[in-house]
Amino acid sequence: MSEIPVISGDAVFAAIDPRTAIASVRQAFERHARGDWQMPAKVYLDSQPHGDFRAMPALGDGLALLKWVTSFPGNSAKGLPVVRGEVLLSDAETGEELAVIECSSVTSLRTGAAAAVSAEVLAAEGARSVGIIGCGVNGAWAARCLAAAGYGPGVCADVRAEVAERLAAELDWRTGDRAEAAAQDVVVTVTPGDEPVILASDLRDGQHIAVLGADAHGKREVELDAIERCRLFCDEWEQASAGGELANGVEAGVVKREDVTQIGDVLGGGAGRERDDEITLFDSTGLAIQDLAICRAVYERWKSGELDAPVVTL
Ligand SMILES: NC(=O)c1ccc[n+]([C@@H]2O[C@H](COP(=O)([O-])OP(=O)(O)OC[C@H]3O[C@@H](n4cnc5c(N)ncnc54)[C@H](O)[C@@H]3O)[C@@H](O)[C@H]2O)c1
Repeated sequence: MSEIPVISGDAVFAAIDPRTAIASVRQAFERHARGDWQMPAKVYLDSQPHGDFRAMPALGDGLALLKWVTSFPGNSAKGLPVVRGEVLLSDAETGEELAVIECSSVTSLRTGAAAAVSAEVLAAEGARSVGIIGCGVNGAWAARCLAAAGYGPGVCADVRAEVAERLAAELDWRTGDRAEAAAQDVVVTVTPGDEPVILASDLRDGQHIAVLGADAHGKREVELDAIERCRLFCDEWEQASAGGELANGVEAGVVKREDVTQIGDVLGGGAGRERDDEITLFDSTGLAIQDLAICRAVYERWKSGELDAPVVTL
């Protein structure tokens, strides 16, 4: 029998602040690039016509993780969440279960943190202003993480004015239209990816663009002409070239493997931004190693008594 904590989303948010999330995700990219952390490809299990389940495993630093998460687009109309799920954390030496952790909180922290890490690593020196296009759940966490990393003030743009207003008020930033947000030094897109929200005509020298919304095949947030003008980076080539923003460029024949650098390789000393005036684009598709980084921090907080959670006997 194992006794394990079941950790709620509220407990995760209370225990992990954006700066901890950023440092943790940065380490995950580094350790994965060095080969210390493992991450087999994500498995999709279709449940048509309703949606799909995704199984995302990762292993590193003595821990193993499985994130079991859904995408059921029709759920909004039923008043149910589109995305739900949990993380199972285990001991990588004994296989023993260690914790069950709510998944949306982990996703939000690791997604927002990836945007901030990409800015820290790739944005031009002196870049400060932020544009957020899509200020929903994960757009808001990208904004919070960028603010925690010292970026801002920012412009919040969303087709739902009230969502942009709420985020702008929280961070003491301002609202603006899509084009205003797209004109800032660091631009983050976190829309459902139904249409391009970064046009080639928006680009200006020296910008950094973090593209977070297009995390599955068929989604698009950036015009192809814009992609062609940027120096390209991603979280992981296999995932980004199959289902990320870069997949659109790969399918059109304008993006090849040698055009794209993984962010972990930049952290390990590889080439990042080379000129102040070039435009960098980071394609984030969301990796299980990022989840592992956050869950490791959550579990450490629980072990040290800083996080309270009910314990169940399995
Ligand atoms: N890269 C990653 O790691 C990662 C992680 C989680 C979610 N995602 C993806 O990010 C996207 C957003 O997820 P979410 O959970 O924040 O969803 P959400 O519904 O909470 O937020 C999306 C926001 O985009 C806004 N929006 C839609 N079309 C827009 C447009 N044309 N211009 C400006 N705003 C627009 C919506 O009004 C909404 O507020 C999804 O595609 C999701 O799959 C990526």
